[in-house]
Parts: sequence; C-alpha cells; structure tokens
Amino acid sequence: MVRTRIAHVLSNSQAGEVVNVRGWVRTRRDSKQGFSFVEVNDGSSFNGLQIVIDADVAGYDAIKDVTTGSSVCITGEVKDSPGKGQRVELQATELRLLGTAPADSYPLQKKGHSFEFLREIAHLRPRTNTFGAITRVRNAAAAAIHNFFQSRDFLYIQTPVITTSDCEGAGQMFTVTTLNLERIAEIQTQIDFAQDFFGKRASLTVSGQLEAEIFACSLGECYTFGPTFRAENSNTTRHLAEFWMVEPEMPFYELTDNMELAEAFIRHVISAVLDRCGDDMEFFNQRIDKTVLETLRNITENDFIRLPYTEAVDLLLASGQKFEYPVEWGCDLQSEHERWLTEQHFKQPVILYDYPRSIKPFYMRCNDDGKTVRAMDVLVPRVGEIIGGSQREERLDVLESRMSECRLEPQDYWWYCDLRRYGTVPHSGFGLGFERLIQLITGMQNIRDCIPFHRVPKSAEF
Ligand code: 4AD
Ligand code: MG
Repeated sequence: MVRTRIAHVLSNSQAGEVVNVRGWVRTRRDSKQGFSFVEVNDGSSFNGLQIVIDADVAGYDAIKDVTTGSSVCITGEVKDSPGKGQRVELQATELRLLGTAPADSYPLQKKGHSFEFLREIAHLRPRTNTFGAITRVRNAAAAAIHNFFQSRDFLYIQTPVITTSDCEGAGQMFTVTTLNLERIAEIQTQIDFAQDFFGKRASLTVSGQLEAEIFACSLGECYTFGPTFRAENSNTTRHLAEFWMVEPEMPFYELTDNMELAEAFIRHVISAVLDRCGDDMEFFNQRIDKTVLETLRNITENDFIRLPYTEAVDLLLASGQKFEYPVEWGCDLQSEHERWLTEQHFKQPVILYDYPRSIKPFYMRCNDDGKTVRAMDVLVPRVGEIIGGSQREERLDVLESRMSECRLEPQDYWWYCDLRRYGTVPHSGFGLGFERLIQLITGMQNIRDCIPFHRVPKSAEF
C-alpha cells in the first residue's frame, strides 16, 4: 500500500479512509483493556499521529518492542478523534515493526535533553521536536529566499567554493591543499604552494561576493546562496566555521536601494515562514522564547531604523551603559553594542551605515569625507548583525588606492579591477548569514543548533 505522509493525514484525511503511515515512534501507552496508543512522527509535521492498536490487530505480538525510537509501518482506518489536540486518529488494522530501538541504549528517551547533549548526538537530534521544527523552518526559509529573488528576476549564480582570493581580507581562510604535509614537515621548513594542486595557495571561500559582482556587472541582478567558511577562532553563540550565506548583487543600485531590498527581503522570508510553519512557530514561541512571535511581527510590521555609524556611536556613548568593550569612534561594534541599539534603544531592527573605512574591506565605496565607506549592517534583536553589505567602489583609481591601503596587490585582483576598467557601473550588494536568520526566527540561543551539522573550533563530528 502506498505511504501517506502524516502531515497529509492530519490535515486532509477523512474518517473512513484507509491509509498507510510509516515513521518513528515517539511514545507508547498500553491500556489495561488490552490495546495500545502509539504516537508516530514521520517529520512531515510538528504533530505526530495518534494510533490506536487493538490486541487482535495483525502484528500486535511485536508491541512490546514498539518503543520510543523504533520504526513502524502501520495501516489503519482514519477516525475522528475524541481526544483534544488532534482532528483525526488512526485505528490500526496492521502493525509492522521495522526496526527496534532498545530502551536501555536508545539515547532519546521521553525526558527533555539539553541542547549541549543533543549536539553530541547530532545524528539523532533531528528526531526531536525542536530539531524537526528547526529543519522545517530552515527549509521554508530557503525556499522563500529563492522565491523572493526569482520573483524579482534575479539570476541564481553558483559561485566557487575553492578560491585563491580573500574577499573579506580578514585572513580567516581554511587552506585547501593536496601537499603531503607530514612529508614536508620531515624534509622542508617552508611550504612551496607553487607545487600544490592549483599552483598557488588556495582556500575555502569566505564569500561569493566578488564572483557575484562579475555576473551582476554582466547580466544584471543576481544572487548566490551557498556555504562559506571562516577560520575565526571565536567560540560564541553566533559564529560557525561553516555557514550558509545569501548574497544578492545588483547593478545600478546605490546604498539606499540596497537597504530597501534588504528590508523587503527579511520581511518576505519571515512572513513566508510564519505562513507555512505555523505549528513549528507556535512551539518555538511556547518552549524556546516566549517573545519570538512578537519580535517577528514587530519586524514585519515596522520600518527599520536607519542610522549613520557616527550617530550610533554618539548614542552608545550617551547611554550610560557599562559595556565590556568601550566604544569610541572608529571601533568595530561588538554584539553587546549592536544589541543595546536594537533591543534596548530602538526595540526594532536598525540599519547602520557609513562605517569608518579603517574597519571595513577594500571593496566598499569611499565617501567624500575621506573617513567613511558606504557600508551597511542590518542589526536585529537577540542576534545583532544579520546582514553586512555595501555599495561597491566602482572607480578604478579609488579602488586601487584602497587596495594598497588594505595592503592588497591590485594585480592579484586583476579580474575584479577589470570590471571597473571596462563598462563600470555603480552597484551594491549584501550578505545575509542564513543560520543567524534561523536563530532570529526560531529564538534558539545558540547558532550551533540552527544548522544540521555544526562546524566550530575543535568539532567537526558527523
Ligand atoms: O559581514 P560579512 O563578513 O559580509 C560579507 O561576507 C560580504 N562579502 C557580504 C556581501 O556584501 N556580499 O558576512 C555577512 C553575514 C554577516 O552579517 C553574518 O550574518 C554572517 O554573514 N556571518 C556569519 N554567520 C555565522 N558564522 C560566522 N562566522 C559568520 N560570519 C559572518
Ligand atoms: Mg560584517
């Protein structure tokens, strides 16, 4: 018999219909009258299906092994449910136990587990309510991201994972090599990357922006959505060594156009997730963060604040707040500063712009004041920076002098400079950290729980 997904049974099946469902047992209760209640979840929805299995049902002799975590295939008739909380339930006519999960060793018993513990069993955590919900939200958000750009005629570009340029210039790249490092350690003191696979030092990309700019300056609006890698040794709740980034790049956009797009983009994705993942979002609001729905509604319903960096620094200085890192003009804002602005002061997302040029990468357009660049960061409550972007420097001479200022060799970026040499146009773009978006939407405290398999210092299991 063909399998029906449980989400479909719960929302569409009518009493009398015969269906077959397959999934993993969450709980079993045996009644004294000789029948059992089993709740089965197959990942298609937050809620599982309640199944009543009478003692005379074919396969009932296996019931004692139908424990939490075991897998089952059950056929039965849909009934209107007398219990509250679900519309329908299933009256089983056949039970097949597919795989057991012995209670004395299966790690996910009914009691709640800490997220720290679940990270150690990341191969089983998708079977929990929380990670099922996160996974569905991630999926809905990814689909909404593509929909947003596709409906605006942006081209989806696949940029390379292996690269020989450092977009952010922060030197936080993972080297990719086929050199025999053990052998080299024995016989040489220096590594000669000319002998390496690519003939020079190659790394995992920190951003697809530079390549996206090539396409934006040839074919128009485009975006990338792929994995990026940063070897920053920061053990925080907001940093991953491998994360997914969405990077749109638009010709003929100035900074304010960029801000408008970023704002519309965040709103669209949040609204789409709220629409599509109602039960999951209800769960996050009840069990993870009681303010998450309110925060998201506030974001979808109100305009973001726009504020120059310099004014933000003045506000922080005048706040009377004791920060761990002191603030002064020219400093990079820390998460505590970003959160004060968006959580305490404005209680709304804030777009900061015109940052000091000394703390931003070479590609951002220089302002006439000689001190700032056309950068923008979007800050949101609880997460801080969720988007970083800018208008790009499209003037070749200014770009080349900025590169020297940043100790980069223009000839290493000859192809990037060519975009300014031939048919240059003003253009802008930004990068959204996908896991930070998931953190915002779900209310999860730690970014390590917002990606299927987290890569952080000293941890790359699974
Ligand atoms: O601000 P970032 O470094 O900007 C760029 O990479 C630009 N090239 C983007 C562009 O203009 N096309 O990173 C963009 C976003 C950050 O705002 C943050 O949300 C996320 O990426 N991000 C991280 N997320 C998780 N772990 C990390 N280590 C992250 N580093 C940045
Ligand atoms: Mg940034």
